[in-house]
Formats: sequence, C-alpha cells, structure tokens
Amino acid sequence: MKAIDLIKPAGRREAALLEQIDLKRLPRHVAIIMDGNGRWAQKRHLPRIAGHRAGVKIAREAIETCALLRVPALTLYAFSLENWRRPHAEVSFLMRLLREYLKKELPSIHENNIRLLAIGRAAQLPEAVRKDMEDAMRLTSQNTGMKLVVALNYGGRAELVDAFNAILDRVRLNGLTAFHADEETISNHLYTAGLPDPDLLIRTSGEMRVSNFLLWQIAYAELYITDALWPDFSRERLLEALLNFQQRERRYGGLGHGREPGNGAP
Ligand code: IPE
Ligand code: IPE
Ligand code: MG
Repeated sequence: MKAIDLIKPAGRREAALLEQIDLKRLPRHVAIIMDGNGRWAQKRHLPRIAGHRAGVKIAREAIETCALLRVPALTLYAFSLENWRRPHAEVSFLMRLLREYLKKELPSIHENNIRLLAIGRAAQLPEAVRKDMEDAMRLTSQNTGMKLVVALNYGGRAELVDAFNAILDRVRLNGLTAFHADEETISNHLYTAGLPDPDLLIRTSGEMRVSNFLLWQIAYAELYITDALWPDFSRERLLEALLNFQQRERRYGGLGHGREPGNGAP
C-alpha cells in the first residue's frame, strides 16, 4: 500500500509528495500548534475572527489527511489557558466557532471512524462548549480509527500540576507511606494517558516557542516550524512536514545507528 493509494492528489505537487511518503515511517502522533490566524487576517485587512474562520477550514484538511494516511493520533492546540488574556469578544467568538465546528463536522468525523478526545481543564469552559464536547466524545467513543485530540483550555504546566495532585490524592487515599513515582506514573496521570508521545510537533507562523504545549510529552519530538500561517497550511504543506520528518535521524541520546524516524523512543 502506498500513500498515493490512500489520497487522491489535488495536483502534481501533491502527487509528487505522496509518492515519496513512506507509510511505514509515519509519526504515530502528530501535534500541531495552529498559530497565525490573526496575522493571516491582518495581511488581508480583515478582522482577526476571519482568520480564525479560515483556520478552522484548514484544520479539516489536516484532520482528513492524517486520518487517510492512518496516522494513529493527531493533537490540535485550539485554545490555551493563556488565551483567556485575549479580548472577551475574541474569546467568545472562538468558543462559538468550536461549537459550530462540532455541529458541522461531527457527522463526518464519526463516519470516518475518528475518535474525538479533549485535553485541558474542561471545568472552566463555558457550559455549552463542555456539553457539546462531551456529547461528541461520547458519540465517537467506540471508534477505532485515528484519535483526534483537541487541546482546549490546555496548559502544559497546569497538566503537570493536575497530574501531581492526582498522584498525591491516590497516595493519600490508599495510605501509601512508601510510594515511589517514576516516569510511567507521571505519564499515566497526564491528560494524554494512553496516547503515544508526539513524534512530530508542528508549529505554523514561524514562532520559535512551545507556548506551554505538551511540555512533558515532547521530550523527544521532532520539531517542525514553518513560516506558513495556519490558514495557509494546506495538505501540500502538511505532506512536506511529514516528508521532512521522515528524513530526520532520531537518536534519543544514542548514536543513532539503525534507528529510523517513526520508531519509538527507548
Ligand atoms: C492561533 O492564531 C489561534 C489561537 C491561538 C486560538 P492566533 O490568533 O494566535 O494568530 P496570531 O498569532 O495572532 O497571528
Ligand atoms: C499558541 O498560540 C496557542 C494556540 C495555538 C491555541 P498563541 O498565539 O497563543 O501563542 P503565543 O502567545 O504566541 O506564545
Ligand atoms: Mg498566535
């Protein structure tokens, strides 16, 4: 099976990229910091919210492409804990947009056997958003295809704080006096418990920072930062990122002999 058998290319460039993709060396988990909606709109003298709309549209392309290529997990950074610092109107537009998105796209997500998951502090989300997300997660909970993880009201440090407190609660509850935590204990108490760590972290719009995203999980992720603004991150650009990932030599601190991209960390 080749990538070109899974996706019908829209043009010659896409076809050429698909020809080069090795399905056996795809990341098991792709995480994306979808940045640059505001700048995209600004460039066109449009309000920032027009950029967010365009961003949602292009997200569909990334989801569809990853699902067709059978990437096991895709995490999209949709709203950070810090994004509450934005003007109220923008925040409420983003919340509304998410609900609109679910309403429109959920049937096709479900049909495509995608399982929707959320990471972040759900309790602080507006009630309606929380309910829609919960319904969507329930509807798709038995799906066995790609896991689509939406990072919503997510912060990496907050996730670690929540994990540590969950561990402490367990220790107290069970009256454990000689409890020893290891890396697995921490991983298992993160919002992402059960998911593989991201192999590839993509950030659009050129900013060289991780903005509090998946701090623990990206320890050995390959970073791909592109100047493309998120609404311009087409299928072609995603395929370029995947291809670039396949050309990396992952070493995990060793000498790299015999390790291929896409293989797991030790
Ligand atoms: C990313 O685009 C979307 C969210 C953070 C919700 P931005 O809104 O951050 O766009 P820029 O960075 O201002 O261009
Ligand atoms: C990161 O983008 C958060 C999301 C994509 C949801 P930001 O635009 O919020 O990040 P900073 O402020 O540039 O670090
Ligand atoms: Mg930004």
